[in-house]
Amino acid sequence: MARKTIVAGNWKMNMTPSQAVKLCEELKDLVKSDTVDVVYCVPAIDIIPVVEAVKGTNVKVGAENMYYEEKGAYTGEISAEMLKDAGVEYVIIGHSERRDYFKECDCMLNKKVKKAFEAGLTPILCCGESLEQREMNVTMDWIRLQIKSDLVGVTADQVKSMVIAYEPIWAIGTGKTATTEQAQEVCKGIRDCIAEMYDAATAEAVRIQYGGSVNASNAAELFGQPDIDGGLVGGASLKADFGKIVNF
Ligand code: PGA
Repeated sequence: MARKTIVAGNWKMNMTPSQAVKLCEELKDLVKSDTVDVVYCVPAIDIIPVVEAVKGTNVKVGAENMYYEEKGAYTGEISAEMLKDAGVEYVIIGHSERRDYFKECDCMLNKKVKKAFEAGLTPILCCGESLEQREMNVTMDWIRLQIKSDLVGVTADQVKSMVIAYEPIWAIGTGKTATTEQAQEVCKGIRDCIAEMYDAATAEAVRIQYGGSVNASNAAELFGQPDIDGGLVGGASLKADFGKIVNF
């Protein structure tokens, strides 16, 4: 069965609740699609108004992060159950900004992935190498380590339903996109890694996105690659261009 393309916006720490509602309104007709799944991953405080604003449209809502504990004394954190109850369907886990600035390690991310599934959320698990790692020729070793560690104890059926986003750190917010060949090569490497860990059917089913300076002019070529099933889009998800990326 062919994998359905999924294009997700990662709003990061942008958009106040009122700006968020306005953006949803502006994008509404531009992101319509029968063939592509469209997701807005938004800041926690925007979730409730955005869920309301996209009601009756094809847009699904995602969170940018969550905590793995059920509930209790974790000041400032948001649980998977809270997200689910608010109408969230997807959650980004392990974005390189979370790994880097907030010191989230693979052991923690593994707990988050498992908790997301438990709550009925679909994880968008991010992985990716630094420029230094690419130059040292350890890109695939590093990414395989991330994927293997983050998926400990995750079942084949769960992996089939999830999304993995390959985001080379050096391409995020830099305007420096990976070449189509580089992006395809790593996305295929991730699929091969899933085949080794699970089986061919699981590898065939899991959706793998590319992220890192995706824009209206490079989306078609990137998403046209055999192992790239869409994109995780930062900067360009905050403007009308996002509609062009969805309808690449
Ligand atoms: P960018 O961000 O599209 O602005 O490079 C992508 C991301 O960090 O998910």
